[in-house]
Amino acid sequence: MLDVDELADRFAYPDDLTRAWVRTVFVSSVDGSATDHRGVSGDLGGAPDSTLFALLRSLSDVILVAAGTTRAEGYAPVTPSEVDAELRTRLKLSPVPPIAVVSASLDLPEPLVAPGQLVYTCASSPKDRRDALAETMDVVVAGERRVDFRAVVDDLSRRGLHRVSCEGGPTLHGELIAQDLVDEVCVTIGPTLVGGPGPRIAHSNAVTERAMRLATLIEADGVLLTRWLRDRSA
Ligand SMILES: NC(=O)c1ccc[n+]([C@@H]2O[C@H](COP(=O)([O-])OP(=O)(O)OC[C@H]3O[C@@H](n4cnc5c(N)ncnc54)[C@H](OP(=O)(O)O)[C@@H]3O)[C@@H](O)[C@H]2O)c1
Repeated sequence: MLDVDELADRFAYPDDLTRAWVRTVFVSSVDGSATDHRGVSGDLGGAPDSTLFALLRSLSDVILVAAGTTRAEGYAPVTPSEVDAELRTRLKLSPVPPIAVVSASLDLPEPLVAPGQLVYTCASSPKDRRDALAETMDVVVAGERRVDFRAVVDDLSRRGLHRVSCEGGPTLHGELIAQDLVDEVCVTIGPTLVGGPGPRIAHSNAVTERAMRLATLIEADGVLLTRWLRDRSA
């Protein structure tokens, strides 16, 4: 049984952040698939991963996620019942973290089009769609043909949304890794073999090698919860 207070301690963001700290959050099967037989992350990590996922949301100022994942997983704004209100009050966080979605097409799940949510897009996105979304959401143009993730991280920093929990997906993750914008990775390994053509938790055309240091390793009901920090000294 996972102790939520212990989890909050072991997955706490660094104190006194002065800029956005990008934590990425993923679950994988034993053979490295980021999706289950239905093509979603689903319950690859079972109950321990669900507990950790909710806790990581509870610790964050903002949830950064790419549009592909919002469409595949049917994203909607976070509700108060999905986070630990007591913990957020103790940490002086807003009642719920907003979702910041990254998209060029601006094809977003309808429930996500709601006040308080952010959209990062590029100048090449459809202007009529951008204008329509801007009536409800906070739309930020960050980049010309593609969203520039450095500009996104700078904008989140300026807004004081320092505790970033990035929930994917693999394409966005690959871009963040290519630009060395990932400060830490929380990856759960669930006790399943999936095989098939499922994606890994990151992919891009740029092959890089970023040193990471294991910060936390917890076993719960046969599921591994891990936290890896970017080691910029290496
Ligand atoms: N195992 C896990 O923990 C986990 C976590 C997350 C997702 N997933 C799974 O991964 C799959 C989705 O991942 P994915 O890799 O296909 O997609 P993704 O990374 O979630 O989304 C890709 C989309 O994000 C937008 N995007 C990303 N980078 C951009 C940039 N620089 N500029 C503009 N737009 C950008 C584009 O949206 P538009 O098309 O709207 O322009 C692009 O098509 C789903 O099956 C999901 O269930 C698994």
